Amino acid sequence: MIPIAAPHSTASPQDPTMMAEPQPAHPAALVIEGLTKRYRSRSGALVEALKGIDLVVPQGSFFGLLGPNGAGKSTLINILAGLTRKSAGRVLIAGHDLERDTRRARLAIGVVPQELVLDPFFPAREALEVQAGLYGVPKQERRTAELLEAVGLSAQANTYARALSGGMRRRLMVAKALVHRPAVVVLDEPTAGVDVELRQQLWRYMRRLNAEGTTVVLTTHYLEEAEALCDRIAIIHQGALIACEDTTALLGRIDRKELAIVAAHDLDGVPAALARFEAALSGSRRLTLRYRRSQIGIAEVLEAVRQAGIEIVDLSTQEGNLEDVFLGLIRGQSGAGAGPPEAGSSLGLDLSARPR
Ligand SMILES: Nc1ncnc2c1ncn2[C@@H]1O[C@H](COP(=O)(O)OP(=O)(O)OP(=O)(O)O)[C@@H](O)[C@H]1O
Ligand SMILES: [Mg+2]
Repeated sequence: MIPIAAPHSTASPQDPTMMAEPQPAHPAALVIEGLTKRYRSRSGALVEALKGIDLVVPQGSFFGLLGPNGAGKSTLINILAGLTRKSAGRVLIAGHDLERDTRRARLAIGVVPQELVLDPFFPAREALEVQAGLYGVPKQERRTAELLEAVGLSAQANTYARALSGGMRRRLMVAKALVHRPAVVVLDEPTAGVDVELRQQLWRYMRRLNAEGTTVVLTTHYLEEAEALCDRIAIIHQGALIACEDTTALLGRIDRKELAIVAAHDLDGVPAALARFEAALSGSRRLTLRYRRSQIGIAEVLEAVRQAGIEIVDLSTQEGNLEDVFLGLIRGQSGAGAGPPEAGSSLGLDLSARPR
């Protein structure tokens, strides 16, 4: 929790702390430069959780921060939240330097940390009221009921936090992060342990906030969730940024395609002429073929099938998804040193290929 007893109103120009350097009209939601974090482990060894991250989150984006366990996502987010001190680097939140203009930087951001931190003795509604008070949100500007509704906790408004289920507590944390209408909302795995229906409800609300101009940054291990929601995605691995692109561009890196056909007649086996497509037979009529779209067009694959004497009654194609890109990048990096990502060969990812 960020204890800020600051007024929500605009500061007067006389306030010397507000006479900071001029800000650009539309600063990026987040600018992170050379962000480094070293932890000292119990044995005294240094763990470099963030190795000089440079990252810009455009204003108004729905931004995914992905990475395997231990990549450094929460460390980065906790630095944004003021829960962890950075070792080096610079962070600007909505144009405000987190170190030099802390108060305005913190008012511009709402963070839902991965770790659940709730006062067990506050009922849900009161927890939101107290949080709004800490941020100096005037009573008439509070939207406690709306937030409880948005996170599906209206019925639990008077329930003590300690009596809420794990998923409910996480949703209460989300509501708490939103009380001061931050320009940037950062959610560290907000849907871990949240059931499907409420997860969708939460995302609908986040989409609405985003449509109204709020920048949303999230981490999640549900990659299909990130693929569906985020317009831009960064991937961090072992404390370093290994990708940061628009989601469509990231997905466009996938070179592997799969064609599934259903033959009109039973097949004895895979025709030898189709072996170059890694053809595999499932059942007696369903044949799956794989190819690199940068090298072979679908017409060529279909012609090869026809020449093999197979009559097609149905077909479908499938491209890789974010999970394929993610795994390709992570595997390309593992043990590969600090160089650029290698092609994720086992997945047929050609990472040098540009989207078409
Ligand atoms: N307080 C701490 N003291 C020492 N090491 C820490 C501390 N917090 C995190 N680390 C280490 O920093 C690295 C990054 O951890 P972090 O929690 O940021 O990863 P993450 O990407 O959020 O992972 P996950 O997906 O599991 O949440 C890990 O090696 C972790 O062990
Ligand atoms: Mg984490």
